Amino acid sequence: MSTMTASAPVSRSTQDKLIIFDTTLRDGEQSPGVTLHIQEKIEIAKQLSKLGVDVCEAGFPVASEGDFAAVERIAKEVGPLMVNREKLGKPMIICGLARAVKNDIQRAYDAVKHAPLHRIHTFLATSDIHLEHKLRISRDECIARATEAVRFAKSLCNDVEFSPEDSGRSDPEFLCKVLGAVIAAGATTLNIPDTVGYNTPDEYGRIIHYLIQHTPGADKVVWSTHCHNDLGLATANTLSGIMNGARQVEVTINGIGERAGNTALEEVVMALYTHPKTFPVYSHIDTQQIFRTSQLVANKTGMAVQANKAIVGANAFAHESGIHQDGVLKHQATYEIINPSVVGVPSNSLVLGKHSGRNAFRTRLTQLGYHLSEAEFQRAFERFKRTADSKKAVTDTDIVAIIDDELGALSQTPAIELRNVQVTSGTGVIATATVEVVSTDPVDGTESVQVDAAISRNGPIHAVFKAIERLVDVNVTLLQYEVRAVSGGSDGDALGQVSVKLCDVQLPHIHFNGTATDTDVVLASARAFMAAINRMILHSRAHGEKAANGENGVAAKTGVEGAEVIDRRKVGV
Ligand code: KIV
Ligand code: ZN
Repeated sequence: MSTMTASAPVSRSTQDKLIIFDTTLRDGEQSPGVTLHIQEKIEIAKQLSKLGVDVCEAGFPVASEGDFAAVERIAKEVGPLMVNREKLGKPMIICGLARAVKNDIQRAYDAVKHAPLHRIHTFLATSDIHLEHKLRISRDECIARATEAVRFAKSLCNDVEFSPEDSGRSDPEFLCKVLGAVIAAGATTLNIPDTVGYNTPDEYGRIIHYLIQHTPGADKVVWSTHCHNDLGLATANTLSGIMNGARQVEVTINGIGERAGNTALEEVVMALYTHPKTFPVYSHIDTQQIFRTSQLVANKTGMAVQANKAIVGANAFAHESGIHQDGVLKHQATYEIINPSVVGVPSNSLVLGKHSGRNAFRTRLTQLGYHLSEAEFQRAFERFKRTADSKKAVTDTDIVAIIDDELGALSQTPAIELRNVQVTSGTGVIATATVEVVSTDPVDGTESVQVDAAISRNGPIHAVFKAIERLVDVNVTLLQYEVRAVSGGSDGDALGQVSVKLCDVQLPHIHFNGTATDTDVVLASARAFMAAINRMILHSRAHGEKAANGENGVAAKTGVEGAEVIDRRKVGV
């Protein structure tokens, strides 16, 4: 056994390229409590493209007008992008999910067709438990429906993926019949979902092996894994699928998804990277983009990454025990199998200060893996200068935090902008906050400035939140409020990152997140709160009436894993 820390695969001549199919924006968005606004979905899709993802499942277009619009815009705006994709030599394939129903398939196609490379992914359950109790159809009818759906999808688009839902609990012989029929109908990728996260690694590997051996036409298609993490086995099952012939993996960033989530992209990619000779495949993921992508998804979805999460958790590279610290200082590989910089974890060493100029900042950003437009760079540089004025030591960790904060703000035009915040507070004093906001009329673009003040016995942050609520005329419930120090500061000048999760009191099931970073945590709190409220406003503008009866937030989400839950009138079946 080698004691060396692994690097990239040694020889690729005998290895196959593994197709990385990311479903963060579809299965991942089905995580309880997650609602992403269209602009946030576009931002995440852009980052997935930079990360080197091959296929991006951008959503479930038939589920709602909002889902359709998001997939369509991703197809148009992200589909053609080639930033950081030189190794891949082609843009991301944009994919839309559809049940095995004509109308779903047509909607999926209409949304993805704008991307230079696009795919329709259609699915139908095949386990007896789903056929009997959910769909109430016979096995023969199941084969007929699956075949018809794939044939219709193929008439629209060359690249067609089929998933027999709940494959992990389906009769393998019956699966071979369904899969043989859909191959004959034109499917190009066959995905084998362990929908309920029931399988063990051996069992899942055997299923993949059996299907490849016994399905007529198996050699004409790409076989794919799709594992859920109910038993904490999703990554192990996925790797077992690869060992048994799968050449596509369906994964999400941070492993988010229905219930216990899906296989985490970063875990599979880094397992391959760390064991370059063990697996018969390699990927073109730019590992240095992993940490940034993880942070972006965590910030936008409001699903914090657990501290001990493999690869991207805050403790993944932290060494607490003295023996470990001593070992790592003497030789990094004593207790670290992955160098944190390989996955883009920024270091806490001092790199830049207030005298650093544009060139030094630009060089550092490139080293950290950023690809910014000139406008983004300008804004990032101004923010860096402001930070360097109030914080002596600007570390890589600080740079990543402020750039992500700034670019996040740049990517979304706020409905209401926070202009000024002033607070007074202290011992024995009731906290007072005065807040000034500017709102822009969505129709004629006129601006109006409003100022209001609020008091609170619970301190300045509560007073700020109350003032903002009054100004914006909303009534929200604060579900979560967290402050974390981004990096150390020698004079108590560490950057504070605030995350807020809230909901409209009338719509408790739709949650909105906001994050902001500043050396002043009151200001960061105000901006994070305002960002979450802006998302709420933009969401209700986009969804109008539907938001009010919860259709978009709940019915559309639950629909995928239990298709019968979808409001049938809404999807027209
Ligand atoms: O888990 C599952 O079965 C799915 C399918 C829609 C592919 O997500
Ligand atoms: Zn799934």
